[in-house]
Amino acid sequence: MNIDGSTKIVGVFGWPVEHTASPRMHNVAFEALDLNWVYLPFEVKPDMLEPAVKAIIPLNIRGVNLTIPHKKDVIPFLDELSSEAQFIGTVNTIVKKGNKLIGYNTDGQGFMRALEENKISVLGKKVLILGAGGASFGISRELILKGADKLFVANRTLKRTEDLKKMLGEIEVLPLEKDSLKSVLKGADIVINTTSVGMKKDDRLLISENWLGPSIEAVVDIIYSPPETKLLRMARKKNIKTINGLDMLLHQGALSFELWTGKKAPIEVMRKALYKKFKTRK
Ligand code: ATR
Repeated sequence: MNIDGSTKIVGVFGWPVEHTASPRMHNVAFEALDLNWVYLPFEVKPDMLEPAVKAIIPLNIRGVNLTIPHKKDVIPFLDELSSEAQFIGTVNTIVKKGNKLIGYNTDGQGFMRALEENKISVLGKKVLILGAGGASFGISRELILKGADKLFVANRTLKRTEDLKKMLGEIEVLPLEKDSLKSVLKGADIVINTTSVGMKKDDRLLISENWLGPSIEAVVDIIYSPPETKLLRMARKKNIKTINGLDMLLHQGALSFELWTGKKAPIEVMRKALYKKFKTRK
């Protein structure tokens, strides 16, 4: 790494931040494109978020990613929000444009790119989404924009699903319960887990194996640790195409890279770095 007086700085604000894969993924990308940029981890405690964000402009930091626990709390300190960030209510990328800070959320579009590269089209499809948190809002919006025929959203807390319906209109709200999930799965094409259920070893499965019928073309889990959740393993064993959260993580990062640098992200280089960190292969 050749940091010198003209190196441009980007990074991630998080707390904790030690486990982030983003510095590795972005720094190999800068190197591959021969860009004099560096991506740094910034450990920003919650009560230090405001001064940290206020320091971006005077320090001429070109932009940052936001991770837990800052994605929502950062909004009052920004000058503008993209339409996605506004809709989702969280920001994962800040871009410094002159003396303004613009907030974006690349999660939904990152998800769509992951689907596209795995040759899954959502046009005219029936999709079951488990969960109605921030990630689900971003993904649901993109699915409607890309022409999905019908969206069924099931969440433990009904209020969040109803909020999503108020904003998107065209979705069908379900309880996260056996009977409703089973009947929707009979005719669904794609299943997407956006809940955090599956991250822990002893997490239960939200759907049972025999509910995945022949209509199911793909099962997607936005969890990337572990790279293969119980849900994905179950689908793979039934010969259903599976996509994990690493590809979404890759593409949301690539979109941040493109927002900052204006250059096309070197996807394969970034993928290799990310997969190496999680010791998995495509
Ligand atoms: P993200 O930004 O990743 O979407 P989030 O907004 O905290 O994170 O959303 C987490 C999602 O996981 C929500 O849909 C949440 O359901 P609730 O809205 O009912 O909280 C879901 N979730 C988390 N733990 C869960 C559990 N044990 N069972 C079912 N759903 C769960």
